[in-house]
Order: sequence, then C-alpha cells, then structure tokens
Amino acid sequence: MEALIFAHRGSSKTHPENTMPAFQAALESGADGIELDVQLTKDHVPVVIHDLTVDRTTDGEGFVMNYTYKDIQSLDAGSWFDSTFEGIRIPSLEEVMKWIKGTHLKLNIELKNGYPRFPELEEKVIALIRQFEMEERVILSSFNHYSLVETKRLAPELETAVLFMEGLYEPWDYAEHIGARALHPYLPVAVPELIQVASSKNMPVRVFTVNGPEQMKQLLKAGCSIFTDDPETAVSIRRNW
Ligand code: G3P
Ligand code: CA
Repeated sequence: MEALIFAHRGSSKTHPENTMPAFQAALESGADGIELDVQLTKDHVPVVIHDLTVDRTTDGEGFVMNYTYKDIQSLDAGSWFDSTFEGIRIPSLEEVMKWIKGTHLKLNIELKNGYPRFPELEEKVIALIRQFEMEERVILSSFNHYSLVETKRLAPELETAVLFMEGLYEPWDYAEHIGARALHPYLPVAVPELIQVASSKNMPVRVFTVNGPEQMKQLLKAGCSIFTDDPETAVSIRRNW
C-alpha cells in the first residue's frame, strides 16, 4: 500500500491549524497531502474549521453555523496561535481548492457533519470538487457514516473513507458495505491485525494522529499512510530510513 504523509489541519504544529499558512507550510515540508475539516456557515458556505465553535481558534465566540460567511471572515484565526499570524482568516473550502489545484497535493476533506447535521454539506462540497476537477485527488472522510453514504449516492466517482475511534468489527467488510474505499482509524485502534488484513485486501489504512517519530516510522514502514501535525519530521524519517 502507498504510505503517504498528510499534514493534519495543515502543518498544525508550527502554524495555526486549518489556515492557508498551515497548508502552504505543509506543501513546503514535502508532505503528500493535507487534511482539513469542513462545516457550513449560516448562509451555507463551506468553511475550513475543526471545532463547532470559533472560540478556541479565533478571537470570536459562538457556533460556526450561526455566522454568515462575511461575518466569519472578520475573525482573526491566527493570533491565538502566535502574534506573528495576526489577521489570518478562516479559509473557505473554495479558496483552498483554488490554491491546491496548482500543487501536487492530495486533499482529505473531513465532513464535520455529526451534530449539528448540515443537510447540504455533501452537496456543496461535491460541487466544489467537480468545479475544480479534483475528483482524482480528493478523499472524503467522516465520523458520520451516513454522510459517507450520502456522498457516495451523490458522487459515486469520489473516494470515501471510514473514520473511526473505537474497534469496528471487520471494518474492511463494513467499509465495502457502505461504498468506502479506505479506513481512517484512530492511532490506538490501528492494531497490526487490522493493518495486515486491510493490506491483504488492498484497502488503504490512513492513521490519525501520528506525531511520535517512532510510530511514524513503524506505520509508514508497514505501508500505512499517516495524518500528522508535524509533516516535516515524518518526511525526514521517510527520506532517511
Ligand atoms: O481525519 C483525521 C482526524 O482529523 C480526525 O479527527 O478530531 O482531528 O478531526 P479530528
Ligand atoms: Ca479532521
């Protein structure tokens, strides 16, 4: 299996997560792809932010879903991390797509569609993927597997991947059942048996979030892809083993 390095929320160890500087740094680190989180604003614009509220990663407060795109753009999404990033904004998915189109990077879009449920999220995200003709480079994942089924129904050509944090019984069969092509397990449940069986079935395993150098090495060597906050270290490990 292809052992790829995805920058988790961009190069989020050194830059404010899910922002353009974090994605640019990921590109410069030599990562193969980036991972980001998507939700909808009040006026249904897909924006890139992890938490349900803007409290932790901006100077504002309240739920993302209660902000219009214009209002969310006025927030500072950089200063909380470091004052050198003052004035950095929450990007729209469209802005990221425009930028990534000109790179070689793969893009894992995590649909943050648990609670609250954004009924139009799949549709809006798929429209952007098609608009930028990024079908071959995008992976859509979610902890909400209903969202993955809906994505597959609307866009059978796209790759979906099952995100999970607990032990799933025979996850390769479950993934196939819901039309997903890959498994994205949480590090503690990415046990050797899972990796071995999935590999024998040619089902990619991409593990989150892997920040320890030894674990990076072990998983990459075992043919797993990883999501890491620190792609620079992962790339240098892969380059030097
Ligand atoms: O997609 C992998 C990982 O990002 C899922 O967890 O909470 O970091 O979005 P979280
Ligand atoms: Ca994520």
